[in-house]
Amino acid sequence: MSSSFPFLLLLILHSTTTTFSQTTASAPAPPGPANITKILEKASQYTILLRLFHMTQVGDQINTQLNNSDQGITVFAPTDNAFSGLKTGSLNSLSDKEKVELVQFHVIPTFLSTLQFQTISNPLRTQAGDNTYYEFPLNITTSGNQVNISTGVVDATVANTIYTDGSLAVYQVDKVLLPMSMFGPPAPAPAPVSEKTKKKSNAVDDTSSSADGSATADASGTASGNRNLHGFIVGLAGAIAFIGMLCS
Ligand SMILES: *[C@@H]1O[C@H](CO)[C@@H](O)[C@H](O)[C@H]1NC(C)=O
Ligand SMILES: *[C@@H]1O[C@H](CO)[C@@H](O)[C@H](O)[C@H]1NC(C)=O
Ligand SMILES: *[C@@H]1O[C@H](CO)[C@@H](O)[C@H](O)[C@H]1NC(C)=O
Ligand SMILES: *[C@@H]1O[C@H](CO)[C@@H](O)[C@H](O)[C@H]1NC(C)=O
Repeated sequence: MSSSFPFLLLLILHSTTTTFSQTTASAPAPPGPANITKILEKASQYTILLRLFHMTQVGDQINTQLNNSDQGITVFAPTDNAFSGLKTGSLNSLSDKEKVELVQFHVIPTFLSTLQFQTISNPLRTQAGDNTYYEFPLNITTSGNQVNISTGVVDATVANTIYTDGSLAVYQVDKVLLPMSMFGPPAPAPAPVSEKTKKKSNAVDDTSSSADGSATADASGTASGNRNLHGFIVGLAGAIAFIGMLCS
């Protein structure tokens, strides 16, 4: 008999949560998160972007992110026409990794209304990551109702709002947004710091060092990512040790 009390409590708790979630669900928000694939299919003229979303799985990423984060998402969607404006072979010459980055470059990991475009601080950070000049910078400028996007390689215009619900915004753009890292000029010579170290150690070898400039930048990016993770783990371990000390 005594064991039925916790069960009853659980039952009450359960029915309370159910009621609560029902009230939440009946709020004005649309039923379930938006689906980028469905939206673009409905809008038509986005078959190439849809194919890329599918191939790179970025479409699924967007849907998952919409469901799991309250930051929202903004997608700049180039039309089929925009893709046909590319130089022949532009897409085929990209590696799988670059295709993913190209598609991610059209995705901003926050919801942006047209009003927010006017006060945005450039360069924006896209889902492709690093927004420094020779990597994946994206600038938005406005004048009246006109919204322009510059990548350093192309200047595009936001032609239309395809979809917006306060969480997902999808805007039609008239050009494929080509990132600097793949379509821009190569980054200039290595940073002054490494230049000095090289001169000190070996003054003769200067010409060969500039050839692998991009590879060096890449490697250091990864290294700093690892450093951050390492710092985090060390910090976490420290925190756990500290809590352990307090508890004992
Ligand atoms: C989104 O829509 C597409 C096509 O309409 C469908 O195949 C897919 O399963 C949907 N994804 C989710 C997460 O609902
Ligand atoms: C959204 O997330 C909830 C809980 O995290 C999960 O149960 C649901 O299946 C997800 N829906 C989609 C469409 O991914
Ligand atoms: C947007 O781009 C158009 C055409 O490229 C240009 O004429 C206009 O000045 C640009 N506007 C802004 C605000 O950058
Ligand atoms: C973007 O804007 C920033 C800040 O105004 C500027 O420094 C940078 O050169 C611009 N980049 C591109 C690609 O237009």
